[in-house]
Amino acid sequence: MKKVHLIVGARPNFMKMAPLYKEFKKYPDEFEVKLIHTGQHYDERMSKFFFNDLQMPVPDEYLEVGSGTHGKQTARIIERYEEVLLADKPNLVIVAGDVNSTVACALDAVKLHIPVAHLEAGLRSFAKTMPEEVNRIMTDVISDYLLTPSPDADENLIKEGKPKDKIYFVGNIMIDSLVQYKHKAKESKILDEINVAPQDYALITLHRPSNVDSEAGLLTILNAFEEISKDVKLVFPIHPRTTKQIELFGLKEKVKNMKNLYLIPPAGYYDFLNLQMNAKFILTDSGGIQEESTYFGVPCLTLRPNTERPITIWEGTNQLVKLETSDIIRAAKKIIAGDLKKGKIPKYWDGHTAERIVQIFRS
Ligand code: UD1
Repeated sequence: MKKVHLIVGARPNFMKMAPLYKEFKKYPDEFEVKLIHTGQHYDERMSKFFFNDLQMPVPDEYLEVGSGTHGKQTARIIERYEEVLLADKPNLVIVAGDVNSTVACALDAVKLHIPVAHLEAGLRSFAKTMPEEVNRIMTDVISDYLLTPSPDADENLIKEGKPKDKIYFVGNIMIDSLVQYKHKAKESKILDEINVAPQDYALITLHRPSNVDSEAGLLTILNAFEEISKDVKLVFPIHPRTTKQIELFGLKEKVKNMKNLYLIPPAGYYDFLNLQMNAKFILTDSGGIQEESTYFGVPCLTLRPNTERPITIWEGTNQLVKLETSDIIRAAKKIIAGDLKKGKIPKYWDGHTAERIVQIFRS
């Protein structure tokens, strides 16, 4: 019997670990699987709502680390997860994505000589100013199993000198959850609740420190939203970090005065998928939404100078937009005028990634 720990901490981890958790549970004679939640995200809307929608059980361990500077948050996770590892001694730890919980738990495990698998390995934005890029690089360096979502990730790892026999192209696990819950998402009443119709709005998400932590950067983007909202409704489920920054810079009134901007609290998983599949287009700085919009075939404007998910541009509906008010407006107006980027769904974004992963560990 192999003991496996699955680590979650922040919102984008939940839809990646849920399918894996369920797949491991199909083999009760082979695996004892535990869900460890670091508590990096703790608001109900950032965590519990997702556990409910994704039909995940209460975590076996909840480390309650909360928010803090990178140093403090990462250190707290390292300290608390080490205690769990020492007591439980799993045979394998699986971490996902690029958040602080990912690198912290991987570091704990590797120092105790416990094998680590990194789900979503090999993605690179090549911008070390992003905390996520540092987390990705560090996690890949110390992981024993590099589970990649797309061939570009394999290439990045090979260029960095990672041995080929550590790299497994398994596909995009986030799409497993999407495929499983698409029908539930279709039943969501979120559009009625906020009073918008399908194709009648653009969906916004924004939370990257590089976009919201400086007043000038945030204003550049909000000024563009102001102009775009004259042509199309904007639905904006707002991340707690962004709410905090808007208040800090005294921009609350500006946002409130945009009458076509529908500001709503962070949405649950079904509601958010529904908002994506019915949007005319999406404006985002998220990683996962670039992928989900590609799956749905909805045009996506990514408000970043780079992406660690270039396949969403090569094959999908994504495009990068320069962080200038006029560039953002121009890109949005093109879509509103009907100039839509078409795409296809990349290989192994098929809803079967968790199965491929568990088969690796069964053998
Ligand atoms: C984190 C991840 C980011 C990911 C994002 C998804 C890192 C370095 N960043 O960014 O990669 O895209 O999650 O959402 O791991 N807060 C709350 N309630 C919460 C959580 C956070 O109010 O439940 C507020 C706190 O004021 C906190 C701030 O949001 O200081 C930022 O939270 P944090 O976890 O540090 O980073 P995110 O911006 O959420």
